[in-house]
Amino acid sequence: MSRTVITFGTFDVFHVGHLRVLERAAALGDHLVVGVSADALNLRKKGRTPVFSERERIEIVSALRVVDEVFVEESLELKRDYVLEHAADVLVMGDDWAGRFDELSDVCEVVYLPRTPAISTTAIIEHIADL
Ligand code: CTP
Repeated sequence: MSRTVITFGTFDVFHVGHLRVLERAAALGDHLVVGVSADALNLRKKGRTPVFSERERIEIVSALRVVDEVFVEESLELKRDYVLEHAADVLVMGDDWAGRFDELSDVCEVVYLPRTPAISTTAIIEHIADL
């Protein structure tokens, strides 16, 4: 039977850490679904809108060979609904969230993948701003 994997992120200023987590998530199943966080959600949670709009971020993530399906994540609190809606067998999150989604293990397997060291959207933005 086909195994669906779901993961979430902003994927702003797309970098190799993003690519690797999506490749590793895809390798855990047959069908990879990605929730790309809404601009409004980022504004609410991080106090700023992403460099690239949700439409642009979705366009980039959708173009990846390992990604099968993309949707807009409107709220961080709806993970359970998204998992059920997409009939996901596995939820993948970066290990910066380790333990935080264990409560969903009644509906899917929850896997935390280690982040790629020394790279993040925030660090890239700060690096460019410092030039
Ligand atoms: N990710 C990763 N390795 C990195 C950066 C991100 O594996 N070096 C993963 C995160 O764990 C998450 C996904 O990529 O599963 C999307 O993360 P996101 O928050 O969009 O990227 P960051 O670069 O962490 O962004 P920011 O600096 O704004 O927090």
